[in-house]
Amino acid sequence: MLVLEIMAGWMQSVNQSMMLLCLIFLGMAPTANSIYPRIRLSHKELLQMNRTWIFQGQGLLLQPQTMLLDESHQRLYVGAKNALFSLNLDRVNAHYRQINWGSTEFQIEECMMKGREKPECANYIKVLQQYNQTHLLVCGTGAFNPVCAMVRVGHKGQETTFALEQESVMSGKGRCPYDPNSSCISTLRRGELYIGLYTDYWENDGALCRLNNNTYTRTERNDRQQLNEPKFVGSAVIPDNDDRDDDKVYFFFTERETDGEGVNRGVLTQIGRVCANDQGGQRMLVNRWSSFLKTRLICSVPGPNGIDTHFDNLEDVFVLTKKDEKNPEIFGLFSTTSAVFKGYAVCMYHMEDIRAAFNGPFAHRERLEHHWTAFEGKVPYPQPGSCASKMNGGSFSNSKDFPDEVLRFVRSHPVMYRPVLPHHHRPILLQTEPSRRKLTQIAVDRVQAQDGHYHVLYIGTDDSLVLKVITIYNKDTDSIEEVLLEELQIFKVPAPIKEIIISPKRQQLYVGSEVGIAQVRLHQCDLYGSACADCCLARDPYCAWDGLTCSRYYPAGVYAKSRRFRRQDVRHGNAVQLCNGLQIDDEQWQRAEERLIYSIESNTTLLECVPRSLQAKVLWFVETKGEKHEVRGDERVIMTPHGLLFLHVKSSDAGVYVCQTVEHGYVHTLLRINLHVLRAERLDLAMRKAKNEGGDGAAAQCHSIIIPPAAPSVSSQSLQLPSVPAPNSRLWYKEFLQLIGYGDAQKVEEYCERVWCSDKKRRKTKRKYAALGGVKRGKGRGEENSHRAPRHTLDT
Ligand SMILES: *[C@@H]1O[C@H](CO)[C@@H](O)[C@H](O)[C@H]1NC(C)=O
Ligand SMILES: *[C@@H]1O[C@H](CO)[C@@H](O)[C@H](O)[C@H]1NC(C)=O
Ligand SMILES: *[C@@H]1O[C@H](CO)[C@@H](O)[C@H](O)[C@H]1NC(C)=O
Ligand SMILES: *[C@@H]1O[C@H](CO)[C@@H](O)[C@H](O)[C@H]1NC(C)=O
Ligand SMILES: *[C@@H]1O[C@H](CO)[C@@H](O)[C@H](O)[C@H]1NC(C)=O
Repeated sequence: MLVLEIMAGWMQSVNQSMMLLCLIFLGMAPTANSIYPRIRLSHKELLQMNRTWIFQGQGLLLQPQTMLLDESHQRLYVGAKNALFSLNLDRVNAHYRQINWGSTEFQIEECMMKGREKPECANYIKVLQQYNQTHLLVCGTGAFNPVCAMVRVGHKGQETTFALEQESVMSGKGRCPYDPNSSCISTLRRGELYIGLYTDYWENDGALCRLNNNTYTRTERNDRQQLNEPKFVGSAVIPDNDDRDDDKVYFFFTERETDGEGVNRGVLTQIGRVCANDQGGQRMLVNRWSSFLKTRLICSVPGPNGIDTHFDNLEDVFVLTKKDEKNPEIFGLFSTTSAVFKGYAVCMYHMEDIRAAFNGPFAHRERLEHHWTAFEGKVPYPQPGSCASKMNGGSFSNSKDFPDEVLRFVRSHPVMYRPVLPHHHRPILLQTEPSRRKLTQIAVDRVQAQDGHYHVLYIGTDDSLVLKVITIYNKDTDSIEEVLLEELQIFKVPAPIKEIIISPKRQQLYVGSEVGIAQVRLHQCDLYGSACADCCLARDPYCAWDGLTCSRYYPAGVYAKSRRFRRQDVRHGNAVQLCNGLQIDDEQWQRAEERLIYSIESNTTLLECVPRSLQAKVLWFVETKGEKHEVRGDERVIMTPHGLLFLHVKSSDAGVYVCQTVEHGYVHTLLRINLHVLRAERLDLAMRKAKNEGGDGAAAQCHSIIIPPAAPSVSSQSLQLPSVPAPNSRLWYKEFLQLIGYGDAQKVEEYCERVWCSDKKRRKTKRKYAALGGVKRGKGRGEENSHRAPRHTLDT
C-alpha cells in the first residue's frame, strides 16, 4: 500500500530551536560503557501484550516484605503489611487468598508509647518458609513485638486451603526482627530454621541462628570478630557431598571492618558458613556454632594505576541451583561504598573457589593493631569448621564430641585468610556511569541455546525496571560482552524492585515492589519481528527463527517437532551469515514501505524513521538519477533519533530518501520516503482556490488532522494550510493534489475516506504529535511511549 502523508510546516520557528536542542541531545551517541536495550517496553505495552499481570491487593499500598514460590501448590505466597497472600502462579491477580494478620489496638498503642511511629507499629511479615508439606512458618514484627504462627496450605491439590492456625501463634523473638526496616534472611531445612537477624529491640545483637523445637544455636553475642554491624542479604543450604551430615549453610552479609583501635572503617561483603548439623560444644560453645567461619567475597575491577575499584556493598545475591546440587553458581549484585562514585557490578562465584577459601589457611593477627597474616601454626584435628560426619573418619558423630582445642581454635580464628574471587577475576556486568538509577535485585536463569548455555540476568532497579541481560565471555580476548536484551518497565510508577523470584518451570518472573506484585513472562520472541534477521539480531537465547517466525527455542530432543532447522546465533548475532540468501537486499529495497511526504519550501520537515531495535545504527540515503548517496547531515539537515530533520527545506531537497539500519553488519531497509517540496506561491494558489469553493463542517474534521492537535505552540501562521474555511474535502484534496502534481485522484479519494477521516487514524496521529510534544518539553517517559522511540540515553 502506498502511504501518503502530508506534513505541513507545523513547527513554529520560536519553538523550533528548543525542539531541536532536545532532539540533538537525545541523539547523543552512547558513551563507551553504556549499552542500549535492544527493546524497551513500557508498563502499558507489557499490559497490552499480555506479557504481565499485576496484583495490587485492595487499595492500600501492598508493601510486600518477603515472597515464597511454592511450585507444588502452584502458589506464590507474599508476606506484606498486616496481611499474607496466596497468589495463583498462572495469574497473580486472579483467585488470590488473603489472611489478615494485623496487630491489636493494644499492641499498637504500646508500640507508640515506646516512641515508635504509627506506620512502624504494624505487623510486617518478614519470615515466610515452607515448614512441611502442609504448613508454612510465618513470622511478623507484630508492632515491635515479633510473632510467629503456622499457616495451613493443605496437601498438594488442596490449593484453596490457606488459614492461620490460631493455636500455633507464638512469640517470634529470635525468629523475626522488631523493626520493619531491619534486614533479615532465612532458609528452612528439615524443620529447622536458619536465620540471620537482629534479635533485640535496639538492634544491637545481629546474629546467625538456627531454631528447632528444642534448641537455639547462634553466633556469639558481642563478638565483633564474628559479626560486626551485619546487614543480612542471603542464605542457602548447599551440600558438600552425598553425606547429608556434611551439608553446609552459607550466609551472605556485609559488615563493618574495624581497624586496630576498634574504630569502624569501610563496609565489606562476607560469606559465612556453618555445618547444618552443628549442635555446638559440650563444655564450651554451648548453643553456639562450633563451625562458624567466614571470608571476604571480592568483586572488583583493576584500575589503570594498579588500584582496584572495589564493589564492597552486597545488594542482593542469587544462588542458581543446577542438576548438580553441590555446585550451584552464585551471583552477587554489588555497589560501591563510596559516597562520591556510585557504581554497580555483578560477580559470579563457583563453589570450588568458595570451598577452597574455607579449606584454609586461617587468618591470624597477634594483636588487634597488627595486620592479618596467614596462620602458620599447628591446626588441631579435626579441621576446625568441618562437620561431625563420615568425613572425619566417622569418629565424631556430634559436634559436642569435638576436642576443646578445636572449639577454641574456631572461636579464635573465624576468619579465613584467602578471600573468594569471582569467576574470570572480574565482574560479568558493570554499571559505572554516574546515574540516578540504582540496581536493587538480581535473579538468573540458565538457558540452553544452540551455541551453548547462557545466563540470563534479570536485574531490578529502583525505578520499577527489570533489565534482561546476557553476558558473553570471549576466551580469545579475555573480555566480557554485555548484551542488554530488554528493558521492561514493570510498574506504572517508579518504585524500587524489592524482590525477583524466577520460575524456570513456568518461564515467569514474579517481581515485588511496594506498589504490588507483577508476573512477567521471560520472553516474547514474536516481538523481535518475523524476519530471520530480526530474530537473529535480537540474540535472545530463548528465541530462534523457525523458518516462519521468531519463536521459542527448544534444544534438540526436547520436542520432536523442533527437529527442523532453527536459526539462532546468540554469541555473534551474525544475521548476515545466518540469514543470507533469505532476503536479498535489492529485493528488500524495493519491498520497503514507501511514503510520500509534502513539505513547504523553507519550512521544517522531519522524515520519520525509528527502528525497532535501539541498538541499530540508522543510515540515510538519497536517490538521484538512479544512484544512491549517503546523507551525512549538516547544520541544516540533521540526523535525529526520530529521523532526518530538514530545518529549511529547499526545492533541491526533493527526492527519494531511504532509511536503512545497520546492526551487527546486517543492513535492513526500513522505509523509502518520497519528499516533495511545495513552492509557497503554488500553495497560496491552492489555498485561494479551496477557499473559493467553500465547504462543509464534516470536512473540517478531515482537515484538522493535518494540524498537529496537541502542539499548542503552533501559531496560526503556520496553520495556514489547514485553517482555511472548510471546503468540500474530497474536491479540495483532489484539486490540491492535482495542483502539486499528484495524478491519481482515485487513490486520493480512497485515502481521505479510509485513512484521514477514520477515527482510528486520527487518534493515532494525535498521539504521535502528543508524543513529540513530550519530547519538546524534554520530560520523562510518557505512557504512550513506544519501544520504537528512544527518549532517554540509557545509563546502564
Ligand atoms: C490479551 O488478553 C485479552 C484477554 O484475555 C485478549 O482479549 C487480548 O486479545 C490479548 N492480547 C494480546 C495482544 O494477545
Ligand atoms: C524505613 O526507614 C525509612 C527511612 O530510613 C522510613 O522512611 C520508612 O518509613 C521506614 N519504613 C518502615 C516500614 O518503618
Ligand atoms: C506439618 O507441621 C504441622 C505443625 O507442626 C503439623 O500439624 C502437620 O501435621 C505437619 N504436616 C505434615 C504433613 O507432617
Ligand atoms: C520437635 O519435637 C517433636 C516432639 O517433641 C519431635 O518429634 C521432633 O523430632 C522435633 N523436631 C526437631 C526438628 O527436632
Ligand atoms: C512555512 O511555510 C509557510 C507558507 O509559505 C510560511 O508562511 C511559514 O512561515 C513557513 N513556516 C516556517 C516555520 O518557516
